[in-house]
Amino acid sequence: MKRIFCMLLGVCCLSGQHARSQAQDPQRFFPAEQLATTGVYYYPEHWDESQWERDLKQIKDLGFGFVHFAEFAWAQLEPRPGEYDFAWLDKAVELAKAQGLKIVLCTSTATPPVWLSRQHPDILILNEDGSRWDHGARQHPTASNEFYRRYSLRMIEALAKRYGHDPAVIGWQLDNEPRVAFDHNPEAQQRFRNWLRERYRDDIAALNKAWGTAFWGQLYSDFAQINIPRMTQLFMNNHQILDYRRFASHEIASFLDEQAKVLHDNISPSQWVTTNYIPNYDDGHIRIAEELDFHSYTRYEVYGENFGVGRKGYRLSHVERIALANDFFRPIDGVYGVMELQPGQVNWGSINPQPLPGAVRMWIWHVFAGGSKFICTYRYRQPLYGTELYHYGIVGPDGVTVTPGGREYEQFARELELLRKEYDPKAKPAKEYEARRTAILYNHENTWEMERNRQTRLWNTLNHLSRYYDPLKRFGAPVDVIDESKPFGDYRVMIAPAYQQVDRQLVESWKNYVEQGGNLVLSVRTGHKDRNGQLFEAKYGEKIFDLIGAEIEFYDHLLPHTPDSIAFEGARYPWVSWGEILAPAAGTETWATYEGDFYAGKPAVIHRKLGKGTVTYVGVDSQDGRLEEAVLRKLYGRLGIGILDLPEGVNIEYRDGFGIAVNYSDRSYTLPVKAKKFLVGGQELPTAGVSVFTY
Ligand code: GAL
Repeated sequence: MKRIFCMLLGVCCLSGQHARSQAQDPQRFFPAEQLATTGVYYYPEHWDESQWERDLKQIKDLGFGFVHFAEFAWAQLEPRPGEYDFAWLDKAVELAKAQGLKIVLCTSTATPPVWLSRQHPDILILNEDGSRWDHGARQHPTASNEFYRRYSLRMIEALAKRYGHDPAVIGWQLDNEPRVAFDHNPEAQQRFRNWLRERYRDDIAALNKAWGTAFWGQLYSDFAQINIPRMTQLFMNNHQILDYRRFASHEIASFLDEQAKVLHDNISPSQWVTTNYIPNYDDGHIRIAEELDFHSYTRYEVYGENFGVGRKGYRLSHVERIALANDFFRPIDGVYGVMELQPGQVNWGSINPQPLPGAVRMWIWHVFAGGSKFICTYRYRQPLYGTELYHYGIVGPDGVTVTPGGREYEQFARELELLRKEYDPKAKPAKEYEARRTAILYNHENTWEMERNRQTRLWNTLNHLSRYYDPLKRFGAPVDVIDESKPFGDYRVMIAPAYQQVDRQLVESWKNYVEQGGNLVLSVRTGHKDRNGQLFEAKYGEKIFDLIGAEIEFYDHLLPHTPDSIAFEGARYPWVSWGEILAPAAGTETWATYEGDFYAGKPAVIHRKLGKGTVTYVGVDSQDGRLEEAVLRKLYGRLGIGILDLPEGVNIEYRDGFGIAVNYSDRSYTLPVKAKKFLVGGQELPTAGVSVFTY
């Protein structure tokens, strides 16, 4: 498998994007008629061997398609350096096979054995304050240690050689919820310097320029003088931090790539390689790794936050959590999976309530609705010891009693059978749904920069994104969150919220997109910085003046106790965090204006035609997203795109010839769809309900 490495530091790393590789289509791993499959984590090493067969039989009986083994088991697999013990895993694999279960294996690099940490304490993360992580938890090693990498790859190779050609093994998960660590070990310092040398082609003057080190006399004369920035030190150079975050993301992505490469070199091409990312949308490493066959995510819904709709909405969570994760991960490779999904009460939340009966099943269907190829739940048995006591499983602490969540998985498996019987490979996509397809253009580097440089404490980048994303879901629109490597022309409407860092090429491709018929929505803070996070030597936002058909006179922030409003089509919308005062050129329409301050009457939202398309500029971040919703509603109306008006918490998606509706709200809802036949649920969709229909 030949893939392009971002490490070569082409345009991809400079812009924070990567060139997608020419990998074969990951659809090949998943027979279309199967639609999806469910799986569950099982840790044979936690339980008496005499119980394995019983447990695996029950996993099969509950309708699971695969079982997930060997996560965190490096110490059991390699008890002494270079000495492997596969006997126990062989046995578990054979027992799973005997039940007709497929198997997913894990590389277990999140938990190195103690012998490794004691022989080489430098593999342990050194924090900024000088403290060092230690053995006794997990995720304590650093990807910036060559030695740790080498030992990991050696163990992975042995594992791959052992199971890489077993037809029951369908795929591999790398590491666990890989996350960026800000490691301050000397080796990490050195690697950062090397990375910078490569990025700036050994030219320290280029680095000084990119980091603006003339400011406060921060000049460097040699790469050897550079240190990892102190994130907690007041006024630390933002451009340096931006590069450091790029480097830290690259470190984790390159470690994942190395792991995947060892696997790909040793396993059959029918086995896939993925990992289980946390959907933290500012995690740069998610999109950078090149060697994974596709991306997967983990999701926990009920843990005392995400209040959802109504007084007890926290028992269902917020509809956006799964919807956005689906729409973020699917477009990366066209295929995605969900590696962990909450089975019931968890142990680690700020408060750990029970999910509402039915919620687990609704989440599974919601993941399915986004197009996921599999849904794996964490975990089969509730642990009796360790850090995760109280964490529900598919069975309770006695190891046999099925939990409510377990029953809901069983129900899903039965319901999925109904869909498989009805599956029609020739089914046409739902026309009206497809007509609403919208792209959101997103780059985590904008989020890093804006969160570091908020200008007003009332600014929140991801909330700003939700002000566009959430209404789209209420419109019943399919959404693809894309990066700059994807063809914009595939989308009739593309929204780039607060797209702060741009270059000439990007502004040019926005313009081409519009001229050829695209409808672009841009919002506050867009286009006034370069890729290093520096202001352009131009008027604020000038790079996009021609595109939006207006100048931006200035921007303002209000104090929380003095919100003002925007007048739009006879209604008022409060704002407080960020408002740009616009001066439209001839031919640009004013859609909304400011009220209540020295710039009252000036435009806040504008719209223009350009070539065959349109540009809408929303120069304000509203307080509750209602303005953004109203603007989008008007735009889709103008474009003749028919939209729905779903209540908050109801989401309808289509895949494989089925419509799937879920209801996170606190009341029942009559679905505005014409179904040919309901396979699950019906026209009336109760709280925590699911309806699946053909059309
Ligand atoms: C996840 C993690 C799992 C397990 C789970 C418990 O974040 O990946 O290994 O700890 O949480 O809810």
